[in-house]
Amino acid sequence: MTESTKKPMPARLLDGKAIALQIRQEIALEVETLIRDRGIVPCLAAILVGDDPASQVYVRNKEIACEKAGIQSRLFRMPASTTTSELLALLRQLNDDQKIHGILVQLPLPSQIHEREILDAVHPTKDVDAFAPENVGLISQGRPRYLPCTPHGVAQLLGRCGIETVGKEVVVVGRSDIVGKPLVSMFLQRTGPLGSSNANATVTCCHSQSKDLSSITRRADILIVAIGKANFVTADMVRPGAVVIDVGINRLNDGIVGDVDFDQVSQVASAITPVPGGIGPLTIAMLLRNTLTAAQASANG
Ligand code: GUN
Repeated sequence: MTESTKKPMPARLLDGKAIALQIRQEIALEVETLIRDRGIVPCLAAILVGDDPASQVYVRNKEIACEKAGIQSRLFRMPASTTTSELLALLRQLNDDQKIHGILVQLPLPSQIHEREILDAVHPTKDVDAFAPENVGLISQGRPRYLPCTPHGVAQLLGRCGIETVGKEVVVVGRSDIVGKPLVSMFLQRTGPLGSSNANATVTCCHSQSKDLSSITRRADILIVAIGKANFVTADMVRPGAVVIDVGINRLNDGIVGDVDFDQVSQVASAITPVPGGIGPLTIAMLLRNTLTAAQASANG
């Protein structure tokens, strides 16, 4: 084959499902130890308001994952017409319940509910999503109590696949409170969940108002995309050889796709996460990790 007809090497697939399984096995062992040594069974309370189909699937998957790891889960279903004060009353009850270690309020909430007020009402020690202001502040100061599940999943995936971030150009596309902002905050730190090689990046964050997006994304050694727009990132936006992490989960008529056009980008990237089977399974694994951390902290507190 001549140089001009040589096909580009397809990217290495970063198998989030396999890594999530490995993490879940590690957690299950720690859960066993906590139960055996301290008699504490970690317990996660999940609150689901209304009947959004995607949220039902997420919550169900979380329940199954908890059970497999030996973590108890309690699901609180509330009707779509629930008010902010009704939800606050349930949170007070769960905050006070010593047997519940983690509380998760599934988002999005129906529009009549004041989301910020609800998230602020979860006790910070039970805030396994790491959405509470105190926990966000601790992350930005480099002394996290909990790491938010999806960004933590990204860091674990990179670290466990042997992809270091030290001194690399990490470009995050998306500035959500759940994914984009905490990713920026985490990769800026001197140390990450897997040590110093899992942090210390030069981080850039782009968003809907960024000018000439491609010129920024093409700088990335590691490009992380979390904007919720199907197949948004195309091959021309990616520097050949970059690592591409796709956090998007977009439901189309013919299936689930990410924010990255996988067919195109896998021809230029050196490594890429698939959707499904990339970051999604890690998000759940890290939720289990936070629930276990909460239960371990309750044993020591
Ligand atoms: N809805 C979509 N992602 C999330 C998440 O990470 N946590 C919660 N609680 N709800 C979500």
